[in-house]
Amino acid sequence: MPLAKWTFTGGLVLTMLYAGAQSSVTAYKEVFRPQLHFSPREKWTNDPNGLVYYQGVYHLFFQHFPGDIIWGPMHWGHAVSNDLIHWRQQPIALYPDSLGYIFSGSVVVDSGNTSGFGKRGQVPMVAIFTHHDPAGEKKGTIDYQSQSLAYSLDRGRTWIKYKNNPVLKNPGIVDFRDPNVMWYKPDKKWVMTLATKDRVTFYSSVDLKNWTKESEFGKGQGAHDGVWECPNLFPMQMGDTVYWVLLVSTNPGGPNGGSGTQYFIGQFDGKKFYTGGSTVKWIDYGPDDYAGITWNNTGRRKIFLGWMSNWIYANQVPTTAWRNAMTLPRELKLAHAGEDTYLSSLPVKELTGLSGKPVVINKMQVDTLTDLSGRLPATGPQYRLEVHADSLKDFFISCSNVQGQQMILGYEKASNRWYIDRALSGKTDFNKEFPKKIFAPRVAVTPALDLTLVMDVSSLEVFADKGLTVMTAIFFPDSPLTRLRIGSKEPWEIRGLTFTPLRSIW
Ligand code: FRU
Repeated sequence: MPLAKWTFTGGLVLTMLYAGAQSSVTAYKEVFRPQLHFSPREKWTNDPNGLVYYQGVYHLFFQHFPGDIIWGPMHWGHAVSNDLIHWRQQPIALYPDSLGYIFSGSVVVDSGNTSGFGKRGQVPMVAIFTHHDPAGEKKGTIDYQSQSLAYSLDRGRTWIKYKNNPVLKNPGIVDFRDPNVMWYKPDKKWVMTLATKDRVTFYSSVDLKNWTKESEFGKGQGAHDGVWECPNLFPMQMGDTVYWVLLVSTNPGGPNGGSGTQYFIGQFDGKKFYTGGSTVKWIDYGPDDYAGITWNNTGRRKIFLGWMSNWIYANQVPTTAWRNAMTLPRELKLAHAGEDTYLSSLPVKELTGLSGKPVVINKMQVDTLTDLSGRLPATGPQYRLEVHADSLKDFFISCSNVQGQQMILGYEKASNRWYIDRALSGKTDFNKEFPKKIFAPRVAVTPALDLTLVMDVSSLEVFADKGLTVMTAIFFPDSPLTRLRIGSKEPWEIRGLTFTPLRSIW
């Protein structure tokens, strides 16, 4: 969590003072502006919050400071989509108030009106979030984070804070935040997973207002180089078996430094979470996928969205109108590899709605360096590239521009690792940790290659081995990376390569 740099002086007034300086002509067209990913029209964002699907609409709330492009008094921004791809930003959903800033949390659809917020048969949507009191933090108290509610009776358009907030007071734990709530059907109760410093704590409730502590998980398990944040617990089915998946973000201590999101696969009995195994698994090995959670209320389909940045440099990246974006929404599945079970992530199928005419190259011999650019259409900087081969050799794909700046994705056979090298990707000097080569283990045991990468103006997302290993990295080039080359140490045959230009979402 960042240090508080701003003092709250009154939500609405404050936000009106900040009101948009940007013209609608340039919005979403600025240098570095992602064209496939959600980013706020202007100013700061970090974590996705309150992901929920209701009546045909995907809601995305997000940590937002509408006053500047650095972290500040947190609000919940809001955007909606019918297809997870095209987003329409809405008025701010939650403003800071006398209890503090509005930190991360979740939204549930209270179909049974257990909270009693619905009147005359209305179904309330209920937001459960952390109130972070900056004054308490400044004074050095330890109980300045607590959990609160807000509800909407108009399908998420406007939000009313509950008058008896907070509903879960701080028991004396400095890091006590990011409530993620789900309906636990067998016991007809709500279960909250809360980040409590170096572990998560499970609470339950029948009305969302009164919470009982059930158990804790995580002390001594998983990665612990940083504080635990933004948990998310949900069931997933594989064959006839139901597994429970627990996502936990940690900062610092991510797999390539700074922020990262680990996951545990186990069982949950309504009170306690159990898991075996000691290998730490990360949902994304790249540096830029943090605080991700899944959408509530999407049935068996589990769709994940992360914040596409890292606390090491999130406040310094060289954008000016807005700062930071979300990853692509990804569909999660459980998959076996070798003796173990993993989560796989792939871009949601709705992304194909942006596809232009694909170019398919069948059977290609790759030598030390093969320039593909002549064989591909001259399109914008956004595309999807799929590569299939029957064998896997040391190889790399370089995406570069006229200045010679490049993002390199590759596979290293000796260490059986994937990598992304962004050392020479353009502007990198805003933070010394940024220009790096980052690595991810290959967990798949198949001999073949199945690789998808999605390139946007300033991000690269790599889904290797059908999403068993994922890496996300942002970058800031002086001109778009439209040149594409592929190289291998030894001669290598590719079975098929499909290049699909993708239209902008804006
Ligand atoms: C994670 C986080 C959360 C917190 C929020 C504040 O990135 O630190 O734990 O609720 O950001 O903006």
